[in-house]
Amino acid sequence: MGCACFGALNWRKGKNDSSQLETPGIGTSNARLFSYNSLRSATMDFHPSNKIGGGGYGVVHRGVLRDGTQVAVKSLSAGSKQGTDEFLTEINMISNTRHPNLVKLIGCCVEGDHRILVYEYLENNSLANSLLGSKSKYIFLDWPKRSVICVETAIGLAFLHEEVEPNIVHRDIKASNILLDGNFLPKIGDFGLAKLFPDNVTHVSTRVAGTVGYLAPEYALLGQLTKKADVYSFGVLMLEIISGSSSSKAAFGEELLVLVEWTWKLREEGRLLDVVDPELTKVPEDEVTRFIKVALFCTQAAAHQRPTMKQVVEMLSKQVQLNDKALTKPGVYRAHGARHFGGASSEETSSSQAEKGKQSANRFEDPTQSNVADFVTEMFPR
Ligand SMILES: Nc1ncnc2c1ncn2[C@@H]1O[C@H](COP(=O)(O)OP(=O)(O)OP(=O)(O)O)[C@@H](O)[C@H]1O
Ligand SMILES: [Mg+2]
Repeated sequence: MGCACFGALNWRKGKNDSSQLETPGIGTSNARLFSYNSLRSATMDFHPSNKIGGGGYGVVHRGVLRDGTQVAVKSLSAGSKQGTDEFLTEINMISNTRHPNLVKLIGCCVEGDHRILVYEYLENNSLANSLLGSKSKYIFLDWPKRSVICVETAIGLAFLHEEVEPNIVHRDIKASNILLDGNFLPKIGDFGLAKLFPDNVTHVSTRVAGTVGYLAPEYALLGQLTKKADVYSFGVLMLEIISGSSSSKAAFGEELLVLVEWTWKLREEGRLLDVVDPELTKVPEDEVTRFIKVALFCTQAAAHQRPTMKQVVEMLSKQVQLNDKALTKPGVYRAHGARHFGGASSEETSSSQAEKGKQSANRFEDPTQSNVADFVTEMFPR
């Protein structure tokens, strides 16, 4: 798995029981090594009142370091079978992957069975809480803020896909992994985490049923994990930001459609703007329409018809006229053989759409992004 080729890691002892990791061959890392005791005191012994969330990877606590820095402390659940050196190498990689639109990994703790990650703390929490969460956590975000969140998130994802070497496929783009800083600028969290669980594809695969709305059909059905699966999830996320509705929790219309299906239906009926959050009273219609169309380009059934994230950034930030005649129906994966938009089963529909997609001209086709080269990971079909 990964980069064990870098060899053993050493770290220098520093002041305050945290220090910088040092990796022979790739230079000194940005990551600090924390003792378990220092994280216990930062989080008041992992006190429940400091718990700010928890997901498939473990529990997250808010903490304050001795120098006053606020941090988010993520205790990984058992399941990381990596040895210490390999774990630290991955941590090194993640913490060296820095960008204004990525949550910064400050360091980690590896003591006994403990595997703990220490991140910068984002004070406005996740989009899942602020935009889609319960009333107590809801924060109204106006259109200018939402539009910046879409563009900046796209920039962060394009960085992971195209600028980091080796490229990183996030695998889990969703509202709870988009965190907002004090100015409501977004940062993508949890990138690179899947690598810490070498034998554990279950973290993602168990949620095939749970967060169906985010999963690209080819990923859910065939286990083909590519950058284009992230693009799909990003498209769903954009629709959530525009509509203020959670894709996994809300169903629309009499047929109980999921958000992408509903948006497509509205488009067919010539009332695309009806998908916009009713809380947003005044919106620049041209810009919002363009954003919705970009989301539809991202969620097309055939992966190769989806744009790259770099193209998405361009489409969102320039006032370009999108050729939406080239748009094909979105693909949707539903677990448990639930009725699928278009009438066929999800598997039939996805593959026939993919086939159709191959035949039609694709405005965003990029021959350098061939499907095969695009695959970074293949999982076994579930
Ligand atoms: N750096 C951070 N700053 C502030 N809050 C955070 C930070 N990281 C996580 N959180 C909070 O903790 C919650 C849980 O995060 P976590 O990543 O553990 O679970 P998740 O995103 O819901 O699921 P998954 O495990 O699939 O990523 C987030 O929704 C967010 O509210
Ligand atoms: Mg998360």
